[in-house]
Amino acid sequence: MQRTLVLLKPDAVQRGLVGEILGRYERKGLGIVALEHRTIDGELADTHYAEHVGKDWYPPLRDFVLSGPLVAVVFEGDEAVQVVRDLNGATDGRKAAPGTIRGDLSLSNRYNLVHGSDSVESAEREIAIWFTDL
Ligand code: TYD
Ligand code: MG
Repeated sequence: MQRTLVLLKPDAVQRGLVGEILGRYERKGLGIVALEHRTIDGELADTHYAEHVGKDWYPPLRDFVLSGPLVAVVFEGDEAVQVVRDLNGATDGRKAAPGTIRGDLSLSNRYNLVHGSDSVESAEREIAIWFTDL
């Protein structure tokens, strides 16, 4: 069993897609371990996206993830890290394959609805950042 961190970013909440997106992970067989609806500050964004701070597209991404409430979720399941990445699809919604969350529901490289940890090590780091009691 693995755990992974998923974010339903502010566009998912604003567009009313939380149920649709959570349902896709649930129907796949992943289990919800923790879930929180919250609005974050810049410090959390910078810690979460530490590898991207300094890139030219980071400031607008940061503004976006601070722009409204999001839903943070820890999912658990067999190979959960890669399974979630596959369900999410490619980063750019315009290039993501049909059948994936981004491929079906996003037309943007920035407003791409979801985050999924990119490795088991990243998942451990990110879960500790978002859910200090887990
Ligand atoms: P990244 O970790 O490369 O993508 P992923 O979410 O698929 O792991 O980038 C983090 C987020 O940054 C990405 O989901 C959307 C945003 N982003 C941009 O806004 N512009 C870009 O050019 C890239 C590469 C990412
Ligand atoms: Mg990433």
